[in-house]
Amino acid sequence: MRIYLIGMMGSGKSTLGKELSKRLGYKFIDMDCYIEEKCCKFIDEIFRDYGEEWFRAFETNTLQEFKKMDDVVIATGGGVIKNKKHKKLMDGKCIYLSVPVEILEERLAFDDTRPLLKKRSVRSILEERIPLYKYFSDLTVENIDMNQAIDKIMEALK
Ligand code: S3P
Repeated sequence: MRIYLIGMMGSGKSTLGKELSKRLGYKFIDMDCYIEEKCCKFIDEIFRDYGEEWFRAFETNTLQEFKKMDDVVIATGGGVIKNKKHKKLMDGKCIYLSVPVEILEERLAFDDTRPLLKKRSVRSILEERIPLYKYFSDLTVENIDMNQAIDKIMEALK
């Protein structure tokens, strides 16, 4: 099975994903790190040098590659849901990690690695995306306490 973790920047997809993959005995892939390695650039450099549209197209190709993998937990980038066509490519269980906006704001307050936060607020991005996260998800789990969230996911996967 392939498990896709979706959710806002700062929602804990990578941290929870690593732990979840250990619990399941699955591989773990951080989609942003995967793209960074392929491009030999950091995400903010990719945005700066090629632009968001190019990055999104690269995300599409990457999702296509992931379809060949099995028994894997994939922490996606927060904006993967911006392209509705990705729903078909994300063939597996899609889990939305939801986190209250105040906590996201706190976690991202001093972050300078996410290019979109240079132009927009966490709150406005989240408001725009909530319907998309819901559209993509098979399961929504609140991720305030990671261990509790993992237990809920394990229970749902039984
Ligand atoms: C983005 C989230 C980032 C990264 C890029 C765009 C977004 O991933 O893919 O900066 O549009 O929300 P994380 O969710 O891992 O921060």
